[in-house]
Amino acid sequence: MCGIVGYVGPKPALEVVVEGLARLEYRGYDSAGVAVLSDGKLQTEKRAGKLANLRAALQANPRSADGIGIGHTRWATHGAPTDGNAHPHVDEMNRVAVVHNGIIENFAQLRMELEERGCKFRSETDTEVVAHMLSEQLTEHNGDLGAAMRSVCRRLEGAFTLVAISEDDPGLVVAARRNSPLVVGRGNGENFLASDVAAFIAHTRDAIELGQDQVVELRADSITITDYDGAPAQVREYHVDWDASAAEKGGYDYFMLKEIAEQPRAIADTLLGRVAVDGTLTLDEMRLAPEELRQISKIVIVACGSSYHAGLIAKYAIEHWCRIPCEVEVASEFRYRDPILDPQTLVIAISQSGESMDTLMAVRYAREQQSRVLAICNVNGSTIPRESDGVLYTHAGPEVGVAATKTFLTQLVACYLVGLYLAQVRGLKFGDEINAIIGQLARMPEQVEKVLNTVQPVRDLARSLAEAKTVLFLGRHVGYPVAMEGALKLKELAYMHAEAFAAGELKHGPIALIEDGLPVVVVVPSREGRSVLHDKIVSNIQEIRARGARTIVIAEEGDESVRPYSDTLIEIPAVPTLLQPLVATVPLQVFACELALAKGNDVDQPRNLAKSVTVE
Ligand code: F6R
Repeated sequence: MCGIVGYVGPKPALEVVVEGLARLEYRGYDSAGVAVLSDGKLQTEKRAGKLANLRAALQANPRSADGIGIGHTRWATHGAPTDGNAHPHVDEMNRVAVVHNGIIENFAQLRMELEERGCKFRSETDTEVVAHMLSEQLTEHNGDLGAAMRSVCRRLEGAFTLVAISEDDPGLVVAARRNSPLVVGRGNGENFLASDVAAFIAHTRDAIELGQDQVVELRADSITITDYDGAPAQVREYHVDWDASAAEKGGYDYFMLKEIAEQPRAIADTLLGRVAVDGTLTLDEMRLAPEELRQISKIVIVACGSSYHAGLIAKYAIEHWCRIPCEVEVASEFRYRDPILDPQTLVIAISQSGESMDTLMAVRYAREQQSRVLAICNVNGSTIPRESDGVLYTHAGPEVGVAATKTFLTQLVACYLVGLYLAQVRGLKFGDEINAIIGQLARMPEQVEKVLNTVQPVRDLARSLAEAKTVLFLGRHVGYPVAMEGALKLKELAYMHAEAFAAGELKHGPIALIEDGLPVVVVVPSREGRSVLHDKIVSNIQEIRARGARTIVIAEEGDESVRPYSDTLIEIPAVPTLLQPLVATVPLQVFACELALAKGNDVDQPRNLAKSVTVE
């Protein structure tokens, strides 16, 4: 949420910063702004709306920059997305500029204190208090921006990443973080700061992960990191294993289209290197000893949005393979209901970004209760894996489109791997049984590719439904969370009412919604694996069709039993029941994407959303 960039070095700072913002625009796009020093003087430009508006303003009023700059793309929390509320914010003397991601919870108190001292505010944001406080502290600390930042941070409550520059020290960018992401890019004679590495990956792949409550002072030739009291801080340096081309559209009109197409590769990469020469499953990064995993008596999966849906699917696989009770809970609800946790509970936190505040708070809560926490995450160096006892990275590469696609499928793969690993270390499955399932997983990239090659009818169908007001989704067993995922994609991309139900629940109420012509998507379980479920859902399809629904049926190829009741039949490859979500989700992604495009929506940046939700 909110993208932040900082640069110091010999390159044209304004260009570097705006280019970085373009790569971070998926984090927030309500407004954008930059601050640079031009001949030693602080200059800012900011505009409501997408980055294009800021670019136009900069073009209309060109300026030079002295090799230092900061920038911001906003997802509004305090104050509407207007020019005035856009970041950067400056103090009354226009001496210091600051950008911010997060929420300063005690801002009302701080604002009151500043106003009592005669300070005049120009915006409704919580961020502006920081600009004024930094200005006061700069005076107090003789223009030392690092000392001023440390002093200000000690007074702030809440979650924040702050990045500031000041006229007092024109070669210095200072940043601070608490509960909000910030990475440093180490260049050669230049350095970078950003909410995530995508912003500077075109310049350097050497990154430094900042810890909690740390302040970094960045000059072209030095990086100094301290805690809020000025003591040197411990950090972790790492090399990013993907390059700038991975975060570009590569010939596609939208990142989402590219990311859907990348799914076979993403699945294959997530499976890579997981099986040792002796055939055993090895999850090296997991950091949880087999002995600890043998003690586990319960699993609780916490996650949000699509990651939550991945967790719901994981429950079926984990309980079936491991016979360990597994609960799945929306992270934002978890810690507020006093859940029963103990050292024998394994909490699995699923988060693409590794930064979702709701999930992070659930992780912290679980660790306070002495539970072991395993993160499933796509972003190396992000907060959730750092604060967990172990991690399993999905290797989907950067996902720029706001809607989760390839990361969702790779989360499923990671969950399957965790389930199989637990079964292995607990002696519940023989090596050949595990290998058989790994072999089935290894064939999934090919099966997903097959779906991608046959989705044109789904596109045509989606375009024909552009005027529909509501679409319902039905599923059973693992098909139910798949239906939920399909409904979520449609809501967020096409801004349509979409709802998913467990097909068996239909007769307990929702069937009253069915009316003539209402599109209902039904995910049909495999005939072979779960024939009872299959037959029941065929009856459900007949029930809704009898009441006028337009049935859109996703079923295994060759499943002739559903054809007579399908207004549209979407065939997917026959795969083992528990793995079916990997193929069944894909047409739903394409459906939502195409329908949204037909409505003229921006599928990479749907309204009101942000990729990484760093506020609770
Ligand atoms: C939906 C979507 C969101 C995220 C959710 C969790 O397409 O992308 O629902 O799944 O915000 O985000 P992470 O996985 O980063 O914690």
